[in-house]
Amino acid sequence: SPVEHDWAGKKVLVTAGPTREKIDPVRYISNHSTGKMGYAIAEAARDRGADVVLVSGPVALPKPDGVTVIPVESVQQMYDAVMQHLPEVEVVIKSAAVSDYRPKTVSAQKMKKTGDDLSLELEKAPDILAEVGKRKTHQFVVGFAAETHDVLNYAADKLARKNLDMIVANDVLQEGAGMGTDTNIVTILARGSEPLQSGKMSKREVADKLLDAILTNQRGAAAA
Ligand code: C5P
Repeated sequence: SPVEHDWAGKKVLVTAGPTREKIDPVRYISNHSTGKMGYAIAEAARDRGADVVLVSGPVALPKPDGVTVIPVESVQQMYDAVMQHLPEVEVVIKSAAVSDYRPKTVSAQKMKKTGDDLSLELEKAPDILAEVGKRKTHQFVVGFAAETHDVLNYAADKLARKNLDMIVANDVLQEGAGMGTDTNIVTILARGSEPLQSGKMSKREVADKLLDAILTNQRGAAAA
């Protein structure tokens, strides 16, 4: 059956994939994110008629057709790209796995093997989503919460603390959920609504479920 264009005319900003924080010219800190969840969201929104900007960390996935892709590496680059596009979008979906910490200094030369131990000093990286939560005017802001325990509590806390409209929580230790897999199992939590459980489904199905939930919530907010 043809896809309904229920997102026609909506401008959406999606972030996907990992970030890389340089240690020296040849080394970096990163994580196992593949970008599959964020790319599935970008493609689903495009298919439903949205105008999509995808800010993507380094991933092995093909560039989706009909989507504006902005490739970035570091948290700072992702931050700059998101803040640049924020004023023009109605919905922000932050599925990227962003580094919480980064090396305090980046060595200009390749670090040498010296002692038996080596300590890296890290500093907090800017929290892009928290900044979006502060700056938002009309935007509907969706965050992700990858947790290994006490998932719903941490998600609810993040929703409030980062001033989000919705959060997608998943227990990354569950079989068939989280990074690297083609499936996901999520709980969608919006302000003032009951949590919605997805059950195990493909990332594309999760993406469509999320887009449904955003539309329902936006309508609810407009009616209130
Ligand atoms: O607090 P935590 O990192 O678990 O929150 C996850 C959410 O925050 C994700 O949506 C992620 O994209 C976003 N985030 C961010 N900038 C950071 C860390 C996380 O935008 N530095």
